Amino acid sequence: MSGRIPQYFIDQLIARIDIVEVIGTRVPLRKAGREYKACCPFHDEKTPSFNVVPDKQFYHCFGCGAHGTALGFLMDYDHLSFVEAVEELAARTGLDVPREASTTPTANKPTQDHYTLLEQAGEYFRQQLRNSPAAIEYLKKRGLTGETASRFGIGYAPDAWDGLIKQLGQSDAALQALTQTGLLIERDSKNGFYDRFRQRVMFPIRDSRGRTIGFGGRIIDQGEPKYLNSPETELFHKGRELYGLYEARQATRQLKQLLAVEGYMDVVSLHQAGITYAVATLGTATTPDHLKRLFRACNTVVFCFDGDRAGRAAAWKALEVALPVVSEGQLIRFLLLPEQHDPDSLVREEGREAFESRVTQATPLSEYMVNALSTRFDLSHAEGRDQFTAEAKRLLALLNNDSYRTLLYQPLAAALGISVDRLRQLIPPPDAARENPARSAASTPLESPGRGSLVRQLIQNLLHYPAAVLALDQLDELAQVDKPGITLLVQLAGELKAQPDLPVAALLERWRQRPDFHYIDKLFLKEPPASSLEIAMDEVKKACARLIADQFPKARFDELMHRFHLGTLSAEEKQELRELIRRQGSR
Ligand code: UTP
Ligand code: MN
Repeated sequence: MSGRIPQYFIDQLIARIDIVEVIGTRVPLRKAGREYKACCPFHDEKTPSFNVVPDKQFYHCFGCGAHGTALGFLMDYDHLSFVEAVEELAARTGLDVPREASTTPTANKPTQDHYTLLEQAGEYFRQQLRNSPAAIEYLKKRGLTGETASRFGIGYAPDAWDGLIKQLGQSDAALQALTQTGLLIERDSKNGFYDRFRQRVMFPIRDSRGRTIGFGGRIIDQGEPKYLNSPETELFHKGRELYGLYEARQATRQLKQLLAVEGYMDVVSLHQAGITYAVATLGTATTPDHLKRLFRACNTVVFCFDGDRAGRAAAWKALEVALPVVSEGQLIRFLLLPEQHDPDSLVREEGREAFESRVTQATPLSEYMVNALSTRFDLSHAEGRDQFTAEAKRLLALLNNDSYRTLLYQPLAAALGISVDRLRQLIPPPDAARENPARSAASTPLESPGRGSLVRQLIQNLLHYPAAVLALDQLDELAQVDKPGITLLVQLAGELKAQPDLPVAALLERWRQRPDFHYIDKLFLKEPPASSLEIAMDEVKKACARLIADQFPKARFDELMHRFHLGTLSAEEKQELRELIRRQGSR
């Protein structure tokens, strides 16, 4: 009746739930260091050998070998099917399980109450603003008109611990519900509740339908934190929401472009100036979810960042997040403001027209990327050019889209002063690798890498230290290596590259339906080969170079020789070169 549950949802679910909580409600857990212990619920025992590892969102019994993620636990312990387990966990977190085929979306009751409460809270804050000359004065000082304040529903949370409680917290149920919406904080079960937001200008955050789902509160004048945001709740997910999107949609039915800025006041101020297509991420770095949302609304997104160092870093981060997401017909531009300015201050200083001409002239993604790389590496030296090429290769590998890749070859080659053809040799487009029929991307039956093999060591390191994937910069070459398990390794690395912060438990769940699940599952249980991320990265780098060298001794030989002449070989690489020379001699 209902369609498949999409992968992203399972990823998201795994990221949101806490395995300690899930298991803890069924089995009494005792904290032991960074882990939790219990007597194993799956076999009879007197001394606890059942471990729950929050870092990995994974459990494991050393007695009987039972192990898995929170989903796996529910399947085994509550005897649920996979889908039932997903539904159970989703219900705990208040999420609706989406289906790939269109089925009826559900709107459940408690959620409805929360929307109402948040709306009532917003109304209360607005009424408080009318009674607070200091807050009104502050907004005036910042140049906001009454009309803008009312368009954004801006209010004020008074200086009291129980302002909202007195207004809306009439019953226990109401207090609980207010706490779930993030508006109240529970001290502990005896000492009651208090208002989260006090003495702050309140910005309601609305979803695409205009319902208030959370708030940002700015302190008046100085103080820490400057902005306080609603916590993650059933309705509010910071990494997904865009402040001002609802208001932008209200202003323009068919949005042509969106300007993504950083702050609440930036959005409000830009709208007031007539730039009503500004939205803001809520004090978090741009996420893939943000991008998907932006591109659902229009085809052009201009990222606007402050011109300081932090702004440049944030812009680069946005680029990296955008590459795997951007598709044909979608345009991304970057606008870095002059130092000492944010959009709010700049638009007030120079006005709408001047600001909009900056938006029109914002740098296209391709140009921004090449410029940033050219500034980072010294292209007058071979080494800098190698680094430039390696970094360009890594970025191109993030792309999910051929036209963008094609678009980038030209300016990258131009920056290096070489031909596009030459660059294509240095960075072969992924199709070239895929055309090798032996390694076609289609599901290859599992050929498991043997014990002690490099491929196995690599997979194991990646499973335990997903971030070590950053050390794997030669995926295309690796894909052409002819060794058992390479397909699995390349697939694993590819998915991690797209999302290096994917929790390992989510990674395991991705494999549940795939033929090599048992293999991955088994390797995950083994002790990691490396004892730290740093060591894992080193091992990954070396194992990868080694595998490629074995497959392509000539290319590796040339590379090592080249670097030998530059004098940049490490001791191990010198050893490797000697070995290659010896092998060549014996041919
Ligand atoms: P900024 O520190 O750049 O502040 O934070 P701003 O937007 O210029 O704020 P004003 O003009 O001083 O009022 C940018 C955004 O980062 C988030 C908020 O969303 C803010 O608008 N932020 C900042 C927080 O969430 N918490 C903070 O303590 C600070
Ligand atoms: Mn500001």
